[in-house]
Amino acid sequence: MPNPPAPPPGVPVLVLNGPNLDLLGLREPAVYGKDTLADVDELCRATAEAHGLRADCRQSNHEGVLIDAVHEARTAHRGIVINPAGYSHTSVALRDALAAVELPVVEVHLSNIHRREAFRHHSYVSAVAETVICGAGAHGYAMALTHLARLLEENP
Ligand code: DQA
Repeated sequence: MPNPPAPPPGVPVLVLNGPNLDLLGLREPAVYGKDTLADVDELCRATAEAHGLRADCRQSNHEGVLIDAVHEARTAHRGIVINPAGYSHTSVALRDALAAVELPVVEVHLSNIHRREAFRHHSYVSAVAETVICGAGAHGYAMALTHLARLLEENP
């Protein structure tokens, strides 16, 4: 099925957070920091706004819900910032969904996954992402949105 024409500017970008990120702030703060998901969402909305974009922030613990959100982005969003969390390392299906929508994708991880356990070193999503940011904590989301804004400017 061919992709539809690109949506006009003013259409939001999708910020998608995967499993267990609803527990940010409580969950292993030494690894993931003290910011809550609400703090991260606020940072994303403010950064997007500073670049003339609007961030639609979502989180789910369910692979299929994340995949449905990616499918929805095909017509409803201009680009995707995603922290696939644990699904980074396991989900061919999420990777395939991101490849199918043909939107710019920036992958974010709060922690530096390459300094951690070996099973975290490979992300299925990285091969379909324009850019991967990891190890910058919550600031990585601001970096990701700033970069996505640049990609959209270069390729509206
Ligand atoms: C994470 C890293 C993943 O390995 C882990 O499963 C997460 C969070 C990060 O943001 O650092 O849940 O994506």
